[in-house]
Amino acid sequence: MAPRRRGVRALLVALGALLLARCDRVPLTWAAVQLMRSLWPAPLPRRAADAEAWCWRAWADAAARAPVPAPPPHVREFSPAEFAALDRPPFDTPWVVRGMLNGSRLSWNAAWLSESPGRGDQMIDYFSDARRALLVPDARGALRDVLASISAGGPQKIGSEMIFRAEPAAVDELAGHALTAKLGARYFSRAMLGTVLTMPVFAARGLPGETTRTDLHCEPIANAVLQLEGSKAWTLLSPEHSGLVRPQVSPDGRAYFHARLGHAAPELAALPVQRVVTHPGDVIFVPTWTWHRVDYVASVMSVTVSLFHFRPVDFARNHPLYAALIVPNLVKEALGLKKQ
Ligand SMILES: *[C@@H]1O[C@H](CO)[C@@H](O)[C@H](O)[C@H]1NC(C)=O
Repeated sequence: MAPRRRGVRALLVALGALLLARCDRVPLTWAAVQLMRSLWPAPLPRRAADAEAWCWRAWADAAARAPVPAPPPHVREFSPAEFAALDRPPFDTPWVVRGMLNGSRLSWNAAWLSESPGRGDQMIDYFSDARRALLVPDARGALRDVLASISAGGPQKIGSEMIFRAEPAAVDELAGHALTAKLGARYFSRAMLGTVLTMPVFAARGLPGETTRTDLHCEPIANAVLQLEGSKAWTLLSPEHSGLVRPQVSPDGRAYFHARLGHAAPELAALPVQRVVTHPGDVIFVPTWTWHRVDYVASVMSVTVSLFHFRPVDFARNHPLYAALIVPNLVKEALGLKKQ
């Protein structure tokens, strides 16, 4: 019996060594640390964090030796007519359709959201001060009161799924729209809300002299953002450049990756990012796993609705390693252990 067990062990060691020799050790090490980050019940051991930092340095060195060709610095833009003429919009690069919503039924602006009696009276959770990067809302109030405060120059921020959960009839207006017809009509109906579709409303303004922003992160879902009022500045980075942002699985157990590269790090200036500012009526498509940072424009109140939808093929194809590594956190979210 014993010699046989030794034989099995030798075989396993040989297979492991073969795997290590054939695979690039950097992504393998990084992936192991990310799995520990999602599954380890205690603070991460020091050696794991060191190994992660070693991976980040290796990626930065590799990029310095052989840079990946950078995309054009601006996001691709379509007019509504050009968009209508596409067979199929690209789902692996970002794009904007200028004025897509002008004259459309999807006119969910601040006035519509504030209607009282009606949806404006709905009590929602919100952030009392967008400058503090809290993960969970810290205040509760009537939707129309919060929007009025932001409009008057206040620092509040709304990021709430509750509004459209209470408006299934409005969700049905997505069906048959020229936008959702191209994205895949099956994702956009009230029956999908809460499963493959979530529709948070985001509202805030940039405060003069401050940066109100969401730092670089990437998600397992695609997002078509309807800019209904005001403007937002987008900074986007393709998944193939992930190694350059010091990627790490979300520290709060939720299903996304964030960049440990600080928002003011000098390396940011050298990243091959794409930029675009969205204006009222525009739609921007952020593909699954595309890194993005969002800045609110100073003194401008922005109201957007995100059509977050899970595209299974893009989830697996746009970044297979991230797709595999996010599974533990997706399960935690599905079980309701982590929820905003
Ligand atoms: C769409 O309408 C808004 C006003 O609601 C206007 O500011 C914007 O320029 C329009 N966009 C296009 C591309 O016509």
